[in-house]
Amino acid sequence: MSNDAGKQRAALAALKYIEEDTIIGVGTGSTVNFFIDALAAQKLRIRGAVSSSNASTERLRGHGIEIFELNAVGDIDVYVDGADECDPHLRLIKGGGAALTREKIVAAASQLFICIVDESKQVSVLGRFPLPVEVIPMARSYVARQLIKLGGQPVWREGVITDNGNLILDVHGLSIVDPLRLESQINQIVGVVTVGLFAHRPADVLIVGSAAGVKILP
Ligand code: 5RP
Repeated sequence: MSNDAGKQRAALAALKYIEEDTIIGVGTGSTVNFFIDALAAQKLRIRGAVSSSNASTERLRGHGIEIFELNAVGDIDVYVDGADECDPHLRLIKGGGAALTREKIVAAASQLFICIVDESKQVSVLGRFPLPVEVIPMARSYVARQLIKLGGQPVWREGVITDNGNLILDVHGLSIVDPLRLESQINQIVGVVTVGLFAHRPADVLIVGSAAGVKILP
């Protein structure tokens, strides 16, 4: 079974958490694209969405779904997003699509964070996927040196500018045995906007799609 089929199964399973006439949070990526398309195809009418990226905004609007600013809506009931890696405690690495900062903001403002993945994203220890860090452009080299001190090998994702006008460093070679601590440590580095480690605010529900069907954790 392809990863896409697993992603689609997880995306479809997330629909049951969506209630009519609500404003939902919508993340970014290929798995979320399946979710957006499925949401548009079903009869249930939502009021609209708070989007985590320009790409998702465009796709949502393409389906006629209204976009709301987070500042205009207060807390969100349900946020649906993908991940690059997830561990058994529903802690995540995100940011493969460079949308980590807005994703983290929407996740923080949401009551229920539903993460949708195919089974290839599951790991016992986070870090196989290079950890994305969004940085202020003038701090790129400084932040990279601090990340090396933490044991990683940062690589500048050249040519990528985030929706916020910043840069991405992808940190290779980490085995993240204490994600809470590492998230705090990286957040302390001056010039870091966001680290794509979602440990302090993990997913509340993880939906894993595979050939066997759908597994929902916890
Ligand atoms: C974007 C993300 C995505 O959720 C993550 O990259 C997963 O993407 P995909 O669903 O395409 O595998 O964090 O910043």
